[in-house]
Amino acid sequence: MRELEINGKTGRSKICIGEKMSNLSKYLVDSPAIVITDENVARHYQQYFPDCERIVLETGEAIKTLDTVRELYERLMGLAADRSVCLIGIGGGIVCDITGFTASTYLRGVRFGYVPTTLLAQVDASVGGKTGVNFSGYKNMIGVFSQPEFVICDPEILMTLPEVELAAGFAEVIKHAAIADAGYFSFLEKNTGNGLEMSLEILEKIIYESVAIKAAIVGRDETEKGERRKLNFGHTFGHAVEKTTGLPHGMAVSIGMMTAAKLSTAKGMLDVADVDRIENLLARFSLPTRLDFDADRVMDAMARDKKREGDHIHFVLLSAIGKAVIAPITLTELSAVLGSNLD
Ligand SMILES: NC(=O)c1ccc[n+]([C@@H]2O[C@H](COP(=O)([O-])OP(=O)(O)OC[C@H]3O[C@@H](n4cnc5c(N)ncnc54)[C@H](O)[C@@H]3O)[C@@H](O)[C@H]2O)c1
Ligand SMILES: [Zn+2]
Repeated sequence: MRELEINGKTGRSKICIGEKMSNLSKYLVDSPAIVITDENVARHYQQYFPDCERIVLETGEAIKTLDTVRELYERLMGLAADRSVCLIGIGGGIVCDITGFTASTYLRGVRFGYVPTTLLAQVDASVGGKTGVNFSGYKNMIGVFSQPEFVICDPEILMTLPEVELAAGFAEVIKHAAIADAGYFSFLEKNTGNGLEMSLEILEKIIYESVAIKAAIVGRDETEKGERRKLNFGHTFGHAVEKTTGLPHGMAVSIGMMTAAKLSTAKGMLDVADVDRIENLLARFSLPTRLDFDADRVMDAMARDKKREGDHIHFVLLSAIGKAVIAPITLTELSAVLGSNLD
């Protein structure tokens, strides 16, 4: 087991990679605990949950709402949970985001920790202290920055994860390597020849390296005033793809990363050979690398992007594999690259 720490203004977070879910009770010293989980995770893993109250949510993005949070407040009050309670979110990013937000607002904030059970939640959603819910059709509109006290990343839990969910996590893993660590990118190239088939040791190393990258960036810029924006690599365009095509997040981000890589080349910043390396690595996980439909609708969505400043949108580009830079891109430059995407 290896540990990483985020020591921020919004709290201190200890992230234990390679710890077993069955050791969770060790982290609960003298606090009454309440587990918040979802139906799938409870079905697979409830035998490992600590002996305490459990609240089992339904699944899917549609439950990530203030209504669910309100129900949780009511359940917590019904259980007479006071300020000494510790809430433990055991599940994917949806359970973690809801648990973190509920814990950070109930009684002005109670203790909380996570056992993330998807790769995406282990390398992304549970790290960095963003909590929140969707509102009025917009993702993550309501929330607070607040660090979980502990995060337990047990790679073995990922063995029951559907392949498409695992691949979605790998989109974020590849993002981390691409923006911050050329050595790690090469490691991924060497050790993921058979796509999702890999040993637990390799998987654990991958989780560790990814969390280390995100934790370091968050440690330097907890509330996203500057460097943390680099974690949006592939996401500016990816969100527009997700919204207009309905593709799952990881797939949309994969297309977004390829688009940003091609924009980097068009700007004379990145070698074409590096774009190919990114494309090849994404393809190993069956992540799409080209937008071959709806390009006009996606461009429309980009044109309406709230973050647009005049005719510019700030994009995360690469000056090399492992080096991200933020640069303004015009809609014309973007549509030129999309044209080459369509060939
Ligand atoms: N807070 C952040 O910084 C941050 C970062 C990235 C994403 N997110 C949020 O994370 C959410 C997506 O998270 P996700 O991709 O983990 O989705 P998810 O929570 O919906 O989990 C995916 C599916 O896998 C199931 N599942 C979870 N663990 C399992 C396991 N071990 N075995 C079998 N099935 C399992 C779940 O029940 C669910 O059906 C989004 O709402 C997104 O906004 C937050
Ligand atoms: Zn993402």
